[in-house]
Amino acid sequence: MSALEKTFVLLKPSCVERGLIGEVISRFERKGLIIKGLKMMTMRKEMAERLYEVHKGKEFYDKLLSVVTGKRVVAILLEGREAVIVVRKMIGATDPAKAEPGTIRGDLGLDLTDNIIHASDSKESYMREAPIFFDESELLS
Ligand code: CMP
Repeated sequence: MSALEKTFVLLKPSCVERGLIGEVISRFERKGLIIKGLKMMTMRKEMAERLYEVHKGKEFYDKLLSVVTGKRVVAILLEGREAVIVVRKMIGATDPAKAEPGTIRGDLGLDLTDNIIHASDSKESYMREAPIFFDESELLS
C-alpha cells in the first residue's frame, strides 16, 4: 500500500468561464481524492512565468502566458494514494482533441492552449508548482 501523496491542479480560465469548476472538482471528489487546498485567484504574470518556466522558449510559450495571465483560475491541492499519476490519468492527454473520452480534457475541452486544466506531472513538479499558489502554512495544514 503506497503512501498518501499530494498533487497540484490548476483550473484554467476556460474552465472557470464556462462554469465547469463544479464538474471537474466533483470528478476528483468522486474518485476519492481529498481537497487539501482550494482558492480562486487572478493569475498574475509572475505566477504564470513561474508555473511555465520549463516551457520558456517554446513556440507556444507566449500564447500560453497570454491565455492565462490576468484571468481567473482555481488552484487546488489534492491528496490521495498515488495522487500524481491518478490525476494525470484523469485529466487525459495535453491536446483535448486527442484526449480519451472519459478524461476531463477528452470530455470537456477542445482548445490546445487553454486545455481546461493543468496538473503536476511528478512529485518534483508538485514541490515546485504548489508553492507558487499556496503559502507554506497552507501546504502543511
Ligand atoms: P499544461 O498541462 O498546463 O502544461 C503546459 C501547457 O502548454 C499545456 O498544458 C498546454 O496548455 C500548453 N501547450 C502544450 N503544448 C502546446 C502546443 N503544442 N501548442 C500550444 N499550447 C501547448
